[in-house]
Amino acid sequence: MVDLSTRYLGLTLPSPVAASASPLSDSIDTLKRLEAAGVGAVVLRSLFEEQIVHESLDLHELLEQWTESYLEAQSFFPALPEHSTRPAAYLEAIEQARRELSIPVIASLNGITPGGWTRYARQIEEAGAHALELNVYFVAANANETAESVEARYVDIVQAVRDVVRIPIAVKLSPFFTALPAVARRIAAAGADGLVLFNRFMQPEIDLESLTVVPTVRLSTPAELALPIRWIAILRGCGVDVSLAATSGVHEPADVLKALLAGADVAMMASALLIHGPEHVQGVVRGVEDWMRERHYDAVRQMVGSLSHATSPDPAAFERSNYLKALVSYSGAAGAPWSG
Ligand SMILES: Cc1cc2nc3c(=O)[nH]c(=O)nc-3n(C[C@H](O)[C@H](O)[C@H](O)COP(=O)(O)O)c2cc1C
Repeated sequence: MVDLSTRYLGLTLPSPVAASASPLSDSIDTLKRLEAAGVGAVVLRSLFEEQIVHESLDLHELLEQWTESYLEAQSFFPALPEHSTRPAAYLEAIEQARRELSIPVIASLNGITPGGWTRYARQIEEAGAHALELNVYFVAANANETAESVEARYVDIVQAVRDVVRIPIAVKLSPFFTALPAVARRIAAAGADGLVLFNRFMQPEIDLESLTVVPTVRLSTPAELALPIRWIAILRGCGVDVSLAATSGVHEPADVLKALLAGADVAMMASALLIHGPEHVQGVVRGVEDWMRERHYDAVRQMVGSLSHATSPDPAAFERSNYLKALVSYSGAAGAPWSG
């Protein structure tokens, strides 16, 4: 019997596959289907700083107000389908998920300033969330905003939230840091118990007909997992003592296995579940279990980090040498007319 349980943020999860924040968490029925299919935890869709600041509005109304106020904002703020994301409804959703699920329920706050909204974390804790994920979705598009001030933003928000809650905090990180291990260390020192790699920035599309920028949600492909895996392997080996979650490109059992071997405590899925439905988890968990049994692993904890940089004396040199090896080993695209 393979032990699929894992430890994440000090919690025991029955399985290393979790549902990351997405519209799937809007319905308790879907959350129950995810649990029945084998997820070890669920992250609820985010409650946004903007919603808390404008307490009486839900996200849909908030965006409508903005688009009315600022004509140019129409290019940036999509009309969202109606869903109950008012702060009060969010707390009720946490309470209901706690009542009806037996797996850990992780709430998510999404904001970019260390303002008064962070106090809402206390109410999230009181509503029963087992943990809180902080998503600092910030694009540094101002030439006066330095790397130092972007990092301080994360640290200040984590500190503000740590001051008001005792539940574990995970921080969903952007991949765009110059020196990620140092940032991870600062965020951990500010009170984070875990890091979620990586936040997936929505890429805008340019419409050549209307000459407008169209915000687009492109679901991920497994190719995107390579980036989180590289950094999870580095962070697992660099002495920052935090839980690690992989998100972006986890679709199949092989993706979960790679994330765990690199050092993730849990692999999170959103796109694959939106494409295939909650029951997709069943096959993923079964695939992980089968692979482990074939290779005589008894427990997930035996695998976590076994291919991380923990035993590498110089991870930066290792990365550089792998880069050179990869370039040298390239022998032409298969089938290309010049590839002999
Ligand atoms: C439609 C949609 C809505 C999402 N909403 C949130 C959200 O509210 N908060 C958040 O932190 N991430 C959100 N995400 C990001 C996912 O949780 C996940 O990190 C990202 O999609 C990468 O994982 P994937 O490759 O499995 O999709 C959303 C993703 C999608 C596709």
